[in-house]
Amino acid sequence: VNRSKRRDSESRVTTPLNLAFVGFGLVARRFLELLIVHRQRLAAEHALGWRMLGVATARHGAALFPSDTEPRQVVAAAETGTLSHLLATGQGSPPETTLEFLRLIHGVDNLVVVENTPLGLDGGQPGVDHVRTALAGGADVITANKSPAAFAYRELRDLAVTNRCRFLFEGAVLDGLPVFSLLRHTLPALRVRGFRGIVNTTTNHVLSAMEHGDTIDDAVTAMQTAGVAEADPSKDIDGWDAAAKTAVLANALMDAEITPHDVDREGLSSVTVDDVQASRRNGKRIKIVASAKRDGHKVVAAARPVELDGNDPLAGLTGTAKGLELDTDLLGRIHISKPSSGVDHTAYALLADLVEVNRRRIEQS
Ligand SMILES: NC(=O)c1ccc[n+]([C@@H]2O[C@H](COP(=O)([O-])OP(=O)(O)OC[C@H]3O[C@@H](n4cnc5c(N)ncnc54)[C@H](OP(=O)(O)O)[C@@H]3O)[C@@H](O)[C@H]2O)c1
Repeated sequence: VNRSKRRDSESRVTTPLNLAFVGFGLVARRFLELLIVHRQRLAAEHALGWRMLGVATARHGAALFPSDTEPRQVVAAAETGTLSHLLATGQGSPPETTLEFLRLIHGVDNLVVVENTPLGLDGGQPGVDHVRTALAGGADVITANKSPAAFAYRELRDLAVTNRCRFLFEGAVLDGLPVFSLLRHTLPALRVRGFRGIVNTTTNHVLSAMEHGDTIDDAVTAMQTAGVAEADPSKDIDGWDAAAKTAVLANALMDAEITPHDVDREGLSSVTVDDVQASRRNGKRIKIVASAKRDGHKVVAAARPVELDGNDPLAGLTGTAKGLELDTDLLGRIHISKPSSGVDHTAYALLADLVEVNRRRIEQS
C-alpha cells in the first residue's frame, strides 16, 4: 500500500528539482533530513520532487553524484565523518573549488543551489560569490546564510530577476518565522518604515542567564555544552551576527543598501550581571535590539544593548525566542514572534523556500 501511495504522489511530480548543496554542515544536513522524511508529503501536496545533484564543502571536497545516490547515505557519511570518502566516489574528476563546482553545473535543468556556508564579514565571502555564480548560471538559490543579502542584496536580487531565478533566504534572520515571504505574499503594497527585533539566540539566552546571576562566560559555556552556541561564539557576543541580520532586514524590507559594517553595533562586552539584574529589579530588561528607521533618504540601523520597558513586547522574548516589530505605513505596527527557535526551524525555512521555488517553476512551465 505504501509503495503504491508513493507512486501516486510521485506521479504528480513532473520535473524533479536538482539540488546542489554548497556547504554541508548542520543546517544543510537537517534540511536534507526534512526532505527525506517528508518526500511523500512534498510530492502529494506540492508536486515537488527532488534528487541530489552534488555537494561542495570547504575541507571535505566536492562531487557530482551518480543518479542512484541514496540521500540518506550522504547524511550518514557527513554524520560519521566519512563525507570525504563518499565525495571521492563522485562522477568525473572532482571539482577543485566551490566556484568550479558551481560553473560545472551551469545550465543544468531545474537546478536549485542550497547555499549554507558560514557568515563572512569580509565582503560577505564566500557566500556572495557562490550566490552570484549560481544565479548567473540560471539556478534558483535558497540559503540560510546571512552574508549574501547582508552584503549584496540589491545586486543579487536584480541578477535573479534578470535571469528569471529566485534568490530566497527566509532562514537567514528569524529561523522558520516568516518575514520576507509574509511581506512578499500577504502584505502587498505597504512600506516598512522601520523595525525592532530580537534576532540573536545566543546573546538573548546569555542575557536571560545573566538575570539569574550567571556570568557571560558561564552562560556561553553552558550553551556550548547544550550544543546551542558555536565553538567560537565571538560573532554572536560581539554583535556581528545581529548586525548582519539587521543589514539583511534593512536591505530586503527597506531597500537600504547597507552592510553589517554600516550598522551601529555593540555586543555584550559592556553589559554586566549587575546591569542586567538592576534593570530587572526596575521592571525592565536589557536586550540586544536590532533596529532600523528612515532618516531622510537614508536608513539608520543599529544592533546594540537597549533597556526595554517590562511591557514592551520585545522584553517578553527570552531564551531562544525571536521576534520582530515592523512599523508599516498602511497597517501600523505588526508583531511576529515565536517562543523558541533552533536549527530545525532554520531547516524548515529552507523547505518553505524550496516549495516556493517549485511553485514558481510549475507556474512558469
Ligand atoms: N546553525 C544554525 O542554527 C543557523 C541558524 C540560522 C542560520 N544559520 C546560518 O546557516 C549557515 C550554515 O550554518 P551551519 O550551522 O550549517 O554551519 P556549519 O555546520 O559550520 O557548516 C558550514 C559548511 O560550510 C562549508 N563551507 C565553508 N566554506 C566553504 C566554501 N568556501 N565552499 C563550500 N563549502 C564551504 C563547510 O565545509 P566543511 O564541512 O568542509 O568545513 C561546512 O560544510 C551559516 O551561514 C549560518 O550563519 C545557521
